[in-house]
Amino acid sequence: MGLKAAIFDLDGVIVFTDKFHYQAWKQMADEMGIYFDEEINNRLRGVSRMDSLEIILERYEGEPLSDARKEELATQKNDTYRELLKTMTPDDVTQEVRDTLAELRRRGVKISLGSSSKNAKFILERVELLDAFDAISDGTNITKSKPDPEVFLKGAEFLGEKPEDCVVVEDAEAGIDAGIAGGMKTAAIGDAVNCGKADYTLTTFADLLDIFV
Ligand code: BG6
Ligand code: MG
Repeated sequence: MGLKAAIFDLDGVIVFTDKFHYQAWKQMADEMGIYFDEEINNRLRGVSRMDSLEIILERYEGEPLSDARKEELATQKNDTYRELLKTMTPDDVTQEVRDTLAELRRRGVKISLGSSSKNAKFILERVELLDAFDAISDGTNITKSKPDPEVFLKGAEFLGEKPEDCVVVEDAEAGIDAGIAGGMKTAAIGDAVNCGKADYTLTTFADLLDIFV
């Protein structure tokens, strides 16, 4: 089938930082008197920081906020989030994920990250997984977030591979849509399985080894 590379979403696939995003946004929302819950937090998956803020502000009932104020709120959230990320250790990545990434590489599969997060490298450093990736495409090299395919197309480009030879691994529907829009194969894990659009369904991370036989 000629598949040569795997491009991985980070949050919800390699590590689970949802709870930290939630806590950090919740703190900001509480201070602003904005209703925020886990269901709204689920809508933020794969969405850029500023677009996430706009979703949270749908419930804001005060005077319109200036762009500068919005930047300030996003920075405040990010500062809280980064403090929470500092509690992460290598134990936050399962042995299954480490072993699978190592085995993929042993089989000659190229590996890139494809994350909307500007904190992606910081997270991979914290969990000591940076070396498992041949390329990093993240929130620092894109202008459009998922479902736009930009982050995955850059990942393929960084690896020197054609989109059609890559598999995107995602836990969010917006990410599966992005992979499809980029002309890539897609593998769904976790919540993304329910959208039914992916080429492959992973019950567990190691199932990837059945795709790259
Ligand atoms: C994605 C998360 O990986 O990164 C989103 O799923 C998040 O929830 C986005 O908003 C941007 O993250 P950051 O770290 O740049 O604020
Ligand atoms: Mg995700």
